[in-house]
Amino acid sequence: MKRRTAILISGRGSNMAALIEAAKAADFPAEIAVVISNRADAPGLEKAAASGIPTVVIASKPFGKDRAGFEAVLQKALDDNQVELICLGGFMRLFTADFARHWYGRMLNIHPSLLPCFPGLDPHGQALRAGVKLSGATVHFVIPETDAGPIVMQGAVTVADDDTPETLAARVIGIEHRIYPEALRLLASGRLKLEGDICRTQGSAATDSTLIAPAP
Ligand code: GAR
Repeated sequence: MKRRTAILISGRGSNMAALIEAAKAADFPAEIAVVISNRADAPGLEKAAASGIPTVVIASKPFGKDRAGFEAVLQKALDDNQVELICLGGFMRLFTADFARHWYGRMLNIHPSLLPCFPGLDPHGQALRAGVKLSGATVHFVIPETDAGPIVMQGAVTVADDDTPETLAARVIGIEHRIYPEALRLLASGRLKLEGDICRTQGSAATDSTLIAPAP
């Protein structure tokens, strides 16, 4: 049985689209049951609907700081759709610790940096200001702290001296679209094992690829 998965978005939804595309494969272990947005104007909603995925809007603005009130409505939508797993795809709203704990081990997020470096806003600007030569993207389990939690998968890109936040973002998003579906595949097929704060992957082969930047 495919694991019923919700994708939560606030905007463009390009990671959402990558997950929807991957989940079309007959042997993919998760199905996208619903896309939920906290903004009615999220462009990703139209993309989801065009793919035939049910969409739900739960506007978060009227809830203001009442996070628990918002989450009660969100949880009902998840229950109504028999959701087992959640993927956050640019979902720009913080959760209460209670909600994060309730979904611990069943909720993934993607962030465009090699966590634990550069969590929060403007990760590409942070990376450029730090002068790192490699950056990338991370899929991790969600915990109460923002952009933190056991790391499931990472992908790296080189950073060039003339990169801007925009050019770096354009390179990293390509990595995001590759690793998020693979991370969901691992979770949905039961191959991820949490050992304390560490996520291990059963049956994964070691890779020997090396990235060095700048080229000597
Ligand atoms: C993605 O780059 C994602 O990694 C980032 O928001 C973007 C959403 O784009 N998420 C975060 O920064 C989480 N802290 P998308 O709507 O096209 O998937």
